[in-house]
Amino acid sequence: MTLRARIWGLLDPTSHGHAARRVRGLEILLILIGIFSVSAGTVDWIAPAARAVAASVTGIVAVLFFVGYLVRLWIAPENPRLYSTAESRSRLRWVVSAEGVIDLLAVIPAVAVASGGARLGAESASVFVLMWMPKLATHAPGVGLIARVFHNERSALGAAAALFMIVLLSAAAIAHWLEGERQPEHFGSIPASLWWAVVTLTTTGYGDVVPQTALGRVIGGVVMLCGISVLALLAGILATGFAEEVRRREFVRIWDLVARVPFFANVGAIAITDIVGRLRSRSYPAGAMVIRKGDVGDSMFFIVTGDVEVRIGPRTRVLRDGNFFGEMALLDRKPRSADVVTVTPCTLLVLDVSDFYQLAGQQPALIATIDSEAKRRRADDR
Ligand code: CMP
Repeated sequence: MTLRARIWGLLDPTSHGHAARRVRGLEILLILIGIFSVSAGTVDWIAPAARAVAASVTGIVAVLFFVGYLVRLWIAPENPRLYSTAESRSRLRWVVSAEGVIDLLAVIPAVAVASGGARLGAESASVFVLMWMPKLATHAPGVGLIARVFHNERSALGAAAALFMIVLLSAAAIAHWLEGERQPEHFGSIPASLWWAVVTLTTTGYGDVVPQTALGRVIGGVVMLCGISVLALLAGILATGFAEEVRRREFVRIWDLVARVPFFANVGAIAITDIVGRLRSRSYPAGAMVIRKGDVGDSMFFIVTGDVEVRIGPRTRVLRDGNFFGEMALLDRKPRSADVVTVTPCTLLVLDVSDFYQLAGQQPALIATIDSEAKRRRADDR
């Protein structure tokens, strides 16, 4: 593997590798240090020596961002999403991508200071913070999710925004018509009436501009009700968009885990889709008791990674990744027959009892496999 590919592996924003996550953590720390040192430089009462230290730290962070920009530009051809036969074209694609533009913004302060266009200090502080904030935002969990939701729901949001504009302009026009003569300073033109329309439609109601005619007040009330409806519509669109996107991401994550359990290898794609929708993932540290003997059986487990120990009286059995447990209580409708304790940190997929019985009806072959293993275990435990 080339050095460039290795560095890409560390800087790939989608990588879940340990080293890549560490690098991301370091970058977040660097941005926070930068923002802190810039902000500290704006405080009047700090000692000149401390101010000089803060300015040096800011300078170092700015230079590191500059180096980071050059490195990202260099490794851009390794990014499969920017793939092009010509490396220069991949680099150009990165430069104009959202990530490239945000990184460029973060670099501008360093370039401005180095070229003498700006001085490191309190005067340029706000510019530094504002230029670095988007870089921090790209690392914030959920920002990608929000961007995705807005992208997915763009047509519904566009329709709601169009409705908002229609109501807004109509309200401004009607208010100008009804109130223009009485309050020419506030409703003298349609653009002037827009301020009242926005404040009323968003149900903010500063109260600085108020219709005085009876009909004007009735229209004001109608606009407020329209405002509540449009905002409720927007909230509904975003809430369902969020729920759908989170469900979709969870589905992909569980699908990925299910693919690692050999037990599901021979199950067809449609059946897998049904199963994936019913499974939840859970992580346990080593030594955690997953099942306690005698408890009511409310779920069964599939091991994605890690080892568990089944303690049946004085005897023990170790189950490894790909195996399952907790099925006997569900099949026999009896309390748990043994303790099950994790030996190493484990990732398990959990299937709740209600889903287990539904699946038994829809996927009899799958449950038959589980049942035959349970029979073997029962014989082993006797
Ligand atoms: P359950 O009885 O629900 O809870 C304890 C679980 O331990 C049990 O389901 C089985 O999944 C598992 N188990 C019990 N006996 C054995 C065995 N002999 N070998 C492997 N697993 C077992």
